[in-house]
Amino acid sequence: MGEKLNIKINDLRENEPILVEHKEKKFVLILHNGKVNALNEECTHEKGPLEQGYIDGDELICPWHSGAFNVETGKANENTTWVTDTKHYSIKEIDGELYIEL
Ligand code: FES
Repeated sequence: MGEKLNIKINDLRENEPILVEHKEKKFVLILHNGKVNALNEECTHEKGPLEQGYIDGDELICPWHSGAFNVETGKANENTTWVTDTKHYSIKEIDGELYIEL
């Protein structure tokens, strides 16, 4: 089932990234098309804060140098060659509570 996060689905707004800390790790959570996704919070380029990024289509754009990551897979856009893929974590929602698979 995963580990329970200190945030509920009602705390999220569609396409508004949010920072979540769990067990000394930082994640960026994104509600996208009604589904919750989690990526590592630090950009794979120079550790930009991805929770300050924005959504463009299906991608999260880093606020520092515009590296692009697919929200649902963590895969880097091949046109933004300065970033590499980041980790995507599965999130389950049960009765409004969110659980992360680490
Ligand atoms: S730190 Fe994210 S693109 Fe450079």
